[in-house]
This record gives sequence, structure tokens and C-alpha cells, in this order.
Amino acid sequence: MSARHFLTLLDLSRDELAYLIQRAIKIKNTLKTQGPTYTPFSNRTLAMIFEKSSTRTRVSFETAMAQFGGHALFLSPRDTQLGRGEPIGDTARVLSEMVDAVMIRTFSHDGLETFAASSTVPVINALTDDYHPCQLLADVMTWTECRGPVKGKTAVWIGDGNNMCHSWINAARQFDFQLRICCPQGYEPRQDILDAAGDNALIVRDPATAVRGADLVTTDVWASMGQEEEQAKRERDFDGFQVTEALLDQAAADAIFLHCLPAHRGEEISTTLLDDPRAVVWQEAGNRLHAQKALIEFLLLGQVD
Ligand code: CP
Ligand code: NVA
Repeated sequence: MSARHFLTLLDLSRDELAYLIQRAIKIKNTLKTQGPTYTPFSNRTLAMIFEKSSTRTRVSFETAMAQFGGHALFLSPRDTQLGRGEPIGDTARVLSEMVDAVMIRTFSHDGLETFAASSTVPVINALTDDYHPCQLLADVMTWTECRGPVKGKTAVWIGDGNNMCHSWINAARQFDFQLRICCPQGYEPRQDILDAAGDNALIVRDPATAVRGADLVTTDVWASMGQEEEQAKRERDFDGFQVTEALLDQAAADAIFLHCLPAHRGEEISTTLLDDPRAVVWQEAGNRLHAQKALIEFLLLGQVD
């Protein structure tokens, strides 16, 4: 059987994603009550290729493998042959001979697909310029923990139509909730990704209108990794799109706020928003560990309960 990859949320069925969320919650609860006693992957290895910076993704995958009884290898292009031009397809075939799974954070989503096409072990997208599906597993898990099933609820994306926004659109489609996308002119998500979501996602231009009555509000930095030189222009273009406590007040009374982090206080969020009890971003960050454990387990073993 060929390996299952996780390059976007569309690689898993709706039922498989629903299973992963419940499994992640169970894995988390077992860890809290019994400690890291579940070690299904002793002596197994995960290769982690990072072409961009990371705190949460690296620590969560590395900790997941350690707690599972296995090992994670941090590989940077600076000190592997990838940085000296070895074809990614060749790298994928070599790693497939040695490791049990590969996680990649890179720029080009096409490059990730090229790698996956040559890999005989599962490949996990740990962020490309186009998608960040692992973050959405943690985000939907957090929303579910806080407020129960997400089907039929309403989330609002404020800001750039970027990789996170694309994965939120795919999540709306797969978990069947409504996503309102509020972005400045010129910063819309990709039209094909939006169109494929049908009635699950729509653009609402005015932030106050977009958040009215919503169950969840989320945002991300205005300039993503690789867009640093656009920072000043983006700060001008995103004027009026900051998420503040006052904006959240217009959402539902029990609305929560998520941010994948790192956050830029005073830019996409007010300086105090992360201190507001509606912001559950630390729980969200911690859930990267549990959600990715469920993902690794699923890709290597299939459904276990
Ligand atoms: N949210 C997220 O992926 O964080 P890192 O860039 O720190 O991995
Ligand atoms: N959109 C951000 C997400 C970081 C986790 C970026 O790509 O830099």
C-alpha cells in the first residue's frame, strides 16, 4: 500500500479528520492523567526538514516523537545536501530508505508535492507558502474543546488571504462550518481555493460586519515568512484590520479568539488582546503537540480506536 501523505486538509476524508480531532483530545487527556506512557513508536524516526524558522512546529513534532518513544531528526538546508542542490526527489527516495515519516516546512507547495511524489513514507506539510494544515488540526481541536462540535458554527478570518487563510477555508469545507473572510482589497485568498469551498466560505469586507454574532475570530501576521520586505506597505494596506477587544465584543458572547502565533502585538492584534480571556492561544499552541501525535499515529498505524 502506498503511504498516506498530509499535504493539505483535503488529503483526509471528513470522517478521518473528525476521528483525528477526537483522537487528539483523547491522547491529550491520557498524557495529562498518566504521563507519557504511550510509546507506540519506539526506535522509529521522523525527519524534519525546516527551510523556514519555527518554534511551535519544531518543538511539538520533536516532543511528539520523543514521548512516543521514537526520535526526530532536525534537518536544515544549510547543513544537508538539499542546500547544495541535491534534487528533492532524490532526497525523498533516500530518506524513505531510512526514516518512518518526513515533515517539511518549505516555501513552494509544488516542491512539497514533488517530494511527496517520490516518498514511500508519509510526508507531512508543516507549512508552505500556500497551506498550514497541521495548525488547523490544533485550531479545530481547540475550538472543539472549548465549545463542542464545530459543524454549522461561524468563524471569521481577519487579515491576509495567506497560507493560514487557505487552510481555514479547507477546514470550513471539511468540518462543515461557515467561514467569513475579511481582507483588504488585493489580499484575497486564492480564488480556486475559495470557489472549491462553495457556501462554506465567503468574503465580507467590513471587519465589524464580518464578526457580528460569530463564534470564533482569528487572524495572522500581515507579512508572512518570505514577505519581510513588504512589511511597511502591508502595515499601510491593513490599516483598519486590527483585531481588538472592541471588535471581539461584536461577536457572539461566548466567542473565542485564535492566533497561530507568533503574533505581532500592535499590528494585527491590539497590544492587550492575548491577555483577554476570550483568547485561547496558549491552549491552541499546546494542542499542536496532541493533534500532531494523532496525525503521526494515523499516518503510520491507521485508526486505532
Ligand atoms: N504556528 C506555527 O507554526 O508556529 P512556528 O512558526 O513557531 O512553528
Ligand atoms: N502566515 C505565517 C504563519 C506562521 C506560522 C507565515 O507563513 O509566516
